[in-house]
Amino acid sequence: MSEPRLRDEIDACVFGAYGTLFDVGSAIGRYRDVLGNKVAPLISAWRAKQVSSAWLRSLMGDYVDFWHVTGNSLDSAMAALGIKGDLLRSRLMEMWLRVDAFPDVKDTLAGLKQAGIKTAILSDGSTTMLTAAVRSAGLHDLLHHVISADVAQIFKPHPNAYQVGVDRLKIPADRILFLASNAWDAAAATRFGYRTVWVNRTGERADDLPAKPEREISSLDQLPALLGL
Ligand code: LAC
Repeated sequence: MSEPRLRDEIDACVFGAYGTLFDVGSAIGRYRDVLGNKVAPLISAWRAKQVSSAWLRSLMGDYVDFWHVTGNSLDSAMAALGIKGDLLRSRLMEMWLRVDAFPDVKDTLAGLKQAGIKTAILSDGSTTMLTAAVRSAGLHDLLHHVISADVAQIFKPHPNAYQVGVDRLKIPADRILFLASNAWDAAAATRFGYRTVWVNRTGERADDLPAKPEREISSLDQLPALLGL
């Protein structure tokens, strides 16, 4: 007897947004003319602060949406690196609304759609941020749902943020394949009850967390084979 296909065990693929579908690292490169050699330190300080602020706010029960978290984190990253300018600040914030998809995204989503698999984003990003990015990257016809953790008023990895996906899709967690580029996101989704794939685009080491992503791929090009399509 042949092995059951993963495709037959799931009804939907739900993706994290930033780093999984949207290439934030490349988007910051547009500002190289003004930022010079501070491009890499800025994005790394900004992203680190963005994630830690979201987690701190979730723990403190003091929720504000991801747009505000992103703005506050940018202020602190700019101050730490001695970067100044209100115009530059607003241009950098705009980046989140006009970010490109990684080259492997469109074909993968189109293939899933063709195979009758529902597709969605479940992200910490606010609905406004996600909708703008989806449109700008030309993904609007390829996604059935764009879901923000904002609905739960708490960020991933809190279980309530993952529950929003189940509620919106009306599909049980164990029939949803959740894919994220952050190891912690995939691990927390496993713990919540989703089937999971870690999209380890940069060859990172796995986090030492009790729950582990179920599968690992380095690019979304590998997803059709993983599903058995
Ligand atoms: C997201 C963050 C975790 O897309 O990058 O939800």
